[in-house]
Amino acid sequence: MRPRLQVALDTLDMPSTLGPLAKCVDEIDVIECGTVLLLAEGLSAVRNVRALYPDKTILADVRIAEAGAKLSRLCFEAGADWVSVVAGASLTTVEQVVKVADEFGGEVQIELGEDYDADQARKWAELGAKHVIVHRSRDAEAAGTLAWHPEDVARVHELAEMGFTVTVTGGIKADELDTFAGAPVGVVIAGRAIVAAEDPAAAAHTLNEAIARVWGEDA
Ligand code: 5RP
Ligand code: MG
Repeated sequence: MRPRLQVALDTLDMPSTLGPLAKCVDEIDVIECGTVLLLAEGLSAVRNVRALYPDKTILADVRIAEAGAKLSRLCFEAGADWVSVVAGASLTTVEQVVKVADEFGGEVQIELGEDYDADQARKWAELGAKHVIVHRSRDAEAAGTLAWHPEDVARVHELAEMGFTVTVTGGIKADELDTFAGAPVGVVIAGRAIVAAEDPAAAAHTLNEAIARVWGEDA
């Protein structure tokens, strides 16, 4: 399958998000209410985006570490389809979040940190988590060490073989998607490359063209 394009909305307020979103939304498969936006605006961000785009898949990137049942329920009640959980959360937390997600017909994404443990990932799959995010950290970016490594691509293959939809994210730009050529990426997330662009629609279109070039239109 061709990877879906997800836009990450990590602005500090709703107007700065809704303007670019309206411009790019026709190019977008999944809308992410990002961690930054959720901390700044709360779950009203999810409610607003849901009201405006009732048919789009919405991720609440809340990065649950604890209190999984309660936090995920708040997100799904606000209108999210997917919620994120950090890789460091306990298996009990993952299990609780999956249980609530099932109640709402939602899905759970686990966000990898720097450490990767394939046995732990297999347990997430057994518990019913559907997605794993392979992620370049903003802190690595701030430290000037942003790069994709061969082990990131190997993780994409291994996680997809376990049955996960694998997402890649972290400062992604259209011209670096070739790094993942031949890899079973399910979702590409781009935030600033779209939202901070002068023309968000054109930026999202360029990303879709790059996705089609790297993976083929329907491949
Ligand atoms: C940061 C995130 C962002 O949402 C993700 O990195 C996508 O944004 P960008 O493309 O601007 O890096 O979760 O931790
Ligand atoms: Mg995010």
